[in-house]
Amino acid sequence: QKNGFDTYMLKEINEQPHVIQETLRGRIFEHSIVLDELKDVDFNKFNKVYYVACGTAYHAGLCGASILERATRLPVLTQVASEFRYNDPIIDEKTLCIFVSQSGETADTLAALKLANEKGCTTIAVTNVLGSTISREAQHTLYTCAGPEIAVASTKAYTTQLVLLTLIALYIADKRGDTVDTDLMEQLNNLPEYVSKLIDDEAIFENYAKTLKDKHDCYFIGRSLDYASVLEGALKLKEVSYVHADAYIAGELKHGPIALIEPGTVVIAVATQPHVAAKTISNIQETIARGAEVILFTVEGQEVSGVENIYYLPNINPLLQSVLVAIPLQLIAYHTACIKGCDVDKPRNLAKSVTVE
Ligand code: M6R
Repeated sequence: QKNGFDTYMLKEINEQPHVIQETLRGRIFEHSIVLDELKDVDFNKFNKVYYVACGTAYHAGLCGASILERATRLPVLTQVASEFRYNDPIIDEKTLCIFVSQSGETADTLAALKLANEKGCTTIAVTNVLGSTISREAQHTLYTCAGPEIAVASTKAYTTQLVLLTLIALYIADKRGDTVDTDLMEQLNNLPEYVSKLIDDEAIFENYAKTLKDKHDCYFIGRSLDYASVLEGALKLKEVSYVHADAYIAGELKHGPIALIEPGTVVIAVATQPHVAAKTISNIQETIARGAEVILFTVEGQEVSGVENIYYLPNINPLLQSVLVAIPLQLIAYHTACIKGCDVDKPRNLAKSVTVE
């Protein structure tokens, strides 16, 4: 069932253009978003929104939250489910809670959802598994159409979550009377093609992985939406290749992490958000001055000097860049793991679905 691929992870990475298309199917019609699952919700009654999830799904939640907050100017919070459930969150019937879970069975996410239901919140689940416990407990459920994800490391579930959470954010904004960028909808429709072109560049990312094969550590930096992307990039790298990886907000480097940079340290930087890209690039230069080997992902047209390894992503709407940069970061993690001879589909100590807390 690996369709000729060596591993499920690589097969699932390659399925992304198709499953993103499936997740979009029927949900954009003549420049408006159609989400029948949410048609009975009065989005004007909320004064706060929470995104709650674990692991990779939490990183997708961070992106969804940022897009929703920018579009609606509502206060939006994102929390890891194991914190939310024990932190006595301030939630009530004016709170919208969105739970993200590939499996729909994660124990902490389920407990957090039950708490939100008890407190009178409106609850929405974004999941990949039809009939899963979370899909049944939530008041409204929307499915990503990623198909079964077998590899423990989440890839196609993540990018389809990003796509669906973007659709939900734009739908809510529209229902609340906020202006929604029609160009963005057009570009959403073109995502499968962009993702496919990135996968075609696999050999470039495999080459980047060679830089990492003998390293013990790797640092990821980004700002704004790119911070969520680097959190996910670091998680992917550590879980499949066992290279210690940390992600930092680039602006925090000077507040401590830069002490870790020495000659030969690998820094992977993502700078796709126009309002802060130049700031991140200046942080990169500070690491290069201390001997770091940098790999930079930025967008076509962005001015950069003094960085050797640069990959230019297509210059599409910044809100969609998390979907694009996910592909090279997945492939870097994958190839690093392969070069090191790791079992990419079943990394040590991990389970696909975490049904105990
Ligand atoms: O099934 P879920 O989305 O609720 O799972 C959440 C995490 O356990 C999961 O994303 C985990 O972090 C993956 N191994 C990441 O690749």
